[in-house]
Amino acid sequence: MVVLFSTLRQNVCIFLAQMETNNINNHQKTNNENRNNNHDIAVAYHYLLNILETKTCQKDAITAAEVDHIIVVITGRHNIMYRLSSSSTTSQTAATTTTTTTSHHTTLYSWNDRSRLYVFSILTMLVVNTARFANRLAPPAAMAGFALYASIQDAHAKEASKTDLNQVRQAIMDVVETDAEKRGDGTSLAGTFIRLAWHCCGTYKASDDSGGSNGARMRFHPEADYGNNAGLDKARAALEPVKAKFPDLSYADLYTYAGVVCVEESGGPKIPFKTGRVDFEDGSTSDKEDRLPNANYGGRDKNVAGMRAVFNRMGFDDQEIVALLGAHAMGRCHTDASGFWGPWTNAETTFSNEYFRLLLEERWSPKMTHNGKPWTGPDQFEDSTGKLMMLPVDLTLVAEPAFRKWVEIYAKDEDKFFKDFAAAFAKLLALGVPNAIVKPWYQFW
Ligand code: HEM
Repeated sequence: MVVLFSTLRQNVCIFLAQMETNNINNHQKTNNENRNNNHDIAVAYHYLLNILETKTCQKDAITAAEVDHIIVVITGRHNIMYRLSSSSTTSQTAATTTTTTTSHHTTLYSWNDRSRLYVFSILTMLVVNTARFANRLAPPAAMAGFALYASIQDAHAKEASKTDLNQVRQAIMDVVETDAEKRGDGTSLAGTFIRLAWHCCGTYKASDDSGGSNGARMRFHPEADYGNNAGLDKARAALEPVKAKFPDLSYADLYTYAGVVCVEESGGPKIPFKTGRVDFEDGSTSDKEDRLPNANYGGRDKNVAGMRAVFNRMGFDDQEIVALLGAHAMGRCHTDASGFWGPWTNAETTFSNEYFRLLLEERWSPKMTHNGKPWTGPDQFEDSTGKLMMLPVDLTLVAEPAFRKWVEIYAKDEDKFFKDFAAAFAKLLALGVPNAIVKPWYQFW
């Protein structure tokens, strides 16, 4: 009301100023022409004139109190409402004519517009009550949501609790140790189980949420026949006795958990892991194309691009790529699997940052001979002793500055490598498996 009143006062003053220079009859004429358009405006104007005619028509001669009085008379007798409008109007009244010199026009509205007030009031009522209603609903909705979340978590927990993961761990390690004894050459299934876990997950495509470890689709065509999965049939077969012992644990959980167990039991970091994967009936949802990365794309730049294409597709950046490849500290290449030969480090059953140290400190040259005979396998590199190896993509980690930066960090700081590896490997294992994502207790989604 205060604003309305001061606006009235201001416009009456403007009107008075205009009266000094304009012919009052013209205003009357204009007013008469618009009478039909807005009867109340005309009446208001008429009253204003009557009152002003008793004055000197000099704006200075009229006091502020008198102007207020004029306004009270007009609004009181004729219920006139004022409002400022920024648009130009075609039905200009005398009052609006006085203000055309400014960018704003003053428009008179009659109480006929009361309906607008009603609409506005109803809308306000609706908004206020909806807000209050939503406010009242919020606590019960939150409680219901939490109860639902808790029951889902509980269902998963019950499902997982059917299987004691500590017993599964023991069974996996029994397989690894019994097999190692049989081999007796210092090699182990541990690296192969880590590779199995990674290859189950490495098919993931973030853009359409396809692939990943859910379903354990590597048991079926086409994934079983991917060139990059050569040799992993042995790992899957070695885990069959564990699956037979723990039938409630899905293959998908078992294959990924075997990787976790082998990292941890080989001296590596603790990997956050959760069950929740299911087994699919067949491989119909697998990509016919082998989505896993190649060991050699043909030159430094192509290797960088090839690795980034595959890992970025899954949602990993340069730092995560380097951290993940640190798993090559474990295990070895087999001529009857990938065609490459040899281990990356001198301690292939120990999880460490040795891979990064050797990448930087050894002189790596193309492998030319094997056991005294010419090397006929795919291009690979060997150290000065010829006992250790690097794949072309491994050496790309030191050739590409964006990767090398992380190799240098991890070579110096094993704790940092363990921390980053654990995070990246846990992320890898959960790709495409929402139930398997391990979150802190306070994070619900
Ligand atoms: C550009 C990415 C990668 C390429 C091209 C690659 C390639 C290979 C190849 C060719 C082998 C030898 C397989 C054999 O002959 O048995 C191998 C083994 C291995 N890879 Fe990778 N790898 C990559 C990334 C990774 C990642 C991300 C991990 C784990 C996080 C991993 C873990 C392993 C392990 C542990 C082995 C040893 C397997 C064994 O001892 O049987 N690799 N990799």
